[in-house]
Amino acid sequence: MVPFDLVFLRGITNFRFFKLFLGLSLNSFFNFALLKEIVRKLNIVHMELLEKIRDNAIRLQNHIVLPEGSEIRTLWATAQILKEKIAKITLLGNRELIEAAAHKEGLNISDASIVDPTTDSNRQKYAEMMVEIRKSKGLTIEKAFDQLNDPLCFGVMMIKAGDADGEVAGAINATGDVLRPAFQFVKTLPGVSVVSGCFFMIFKDKNIGDNGMLVFADCAVMPDPDSLQLAEIAVTTAASAKSIAGIEPRVAMLSFSTKGSAQHELVDKVREATKIAAKMNPNLLIDGEMQLDAALVPEVGQLKSPGSKVAGKANVLIFPGLESGNIGYKLVQRLAGAEAVGPVLQGMAAPINDLSRGCSVSDIVNMVAITSNQAGKKK
Ligand code: ACO
Repeated sequence: MVPFDLVFLRGITNFRFFKLFLGLSLNSFFNFALLKEIVRKLNIVHMELLEKIRDNAIRLQNHIVLPEGSEIRTLWATAQILKEKIAKITLLGNRELIEAAAHKEGLNISDASIVDPTTDSNRQKYAEMMVEIRKSKGLTIEKAFDQLNDPLCFGVMMIKAGDADGEVAGAINATGDVLRPAFQFVKTLPGVSVVSGCFFMIFKDKNIGDNGMLVFADCAVMPDPDSLQLAEIAVTTAASAKSIAGIEPRVAMLSFSTKGSAQHELVDKVREATKIAAKMNPNLLIDGEMQLDAALVPEVGQLKSPGSKVAGKANVLIFPGLESGNIGYKLVQRLAGAEAVGPVLQGMAAPINDLSRGCSVSDIVNMVAITSNQAGKKK
């Protein structure tokens, strides 16, 4: 039996981390205020808080769809979620396959709904909705029916139609495959054009960043942002740093150049993004373009960018593109031993959360509880 023991949370000892944990894949968390309020009001030690999140999920009884219905960790998580009554669960996939897999594992998933996207009676309704949303993109009813065979698309349409409150996927699917249907049919929050993913990097050395924390973005979503998109990533990440981690953001726009030390169109992009972000949020402490050492090391910052309010003391690092962001966070995680909490998805209009393919059963259970909290109370 795999216990619901929240393994990866056991070593966590500080309150801030819990605020971070709450922020996992928050999708800009339209309901984050609720969890923040819980954090503020409860002011209790972390395990109790996590229990409160689970309790809140139990109280909410939200309906979470798991598109990877026959995947073994997902089935273990489902059995646990149902036993603990953390959420109502719909598993997507072929009923016989799912039930056979659960039986083989000795799992009781009898309280889960099982929906086969290829035969379900809602296909017509969802297909019509899909065409309505994307007819300008040339989506025909035939293509919509075809797309609905993909559980990742079907799950998103359940949420769009109000037939489920949230989705958790990614145990066996790549991030892009989880995100694409969400972008196409659920889309972004009003006023947000770009979904991005930030990581809260937590160091044992409290001298690094803000009391041992740096926020990195975009590390998960947008391969090659233009200057406007990069500016939006900077502004939304600063907001996440503040609302989730409670830190006053000092944002460094990273490049291979500091204040004109190199000339290249890639440098121009970062410089332009810095200007746009400063206009978007005039109160934001942001500076760039700058190299990583100028951003983090006070002496280097002073030397390369004298008088900067960010250089040498940045706590939010905005990478110029996904290559550097994704490689960068993994380097710091693997070589510096930092804990990487995320990706926190910023900007999505509904709670659709992406798992790592290396996720544990506990990760799935926790993510379902968080997703339920994100979805909040039904109106
Ligand atoms: N925010 C909001 N909407 C977006 C975004 C975004 N960041 N990116 C794409 N879209 C929208 C597009 O506007 C488009 O909408 P439309 O069809 O209504 O016009 C739709 O999504 C599809 O856009 P495409 O560019 O055709 O999407 P594509 O499928 O090519 O790529 C995707 C989007 C999936 C996010 C892609 O950029 C991707 O794969 N990114 C990398 C994800 C990844 O692998 N990350 C690393 C692993 S995660 C980790 O290590 C933690």
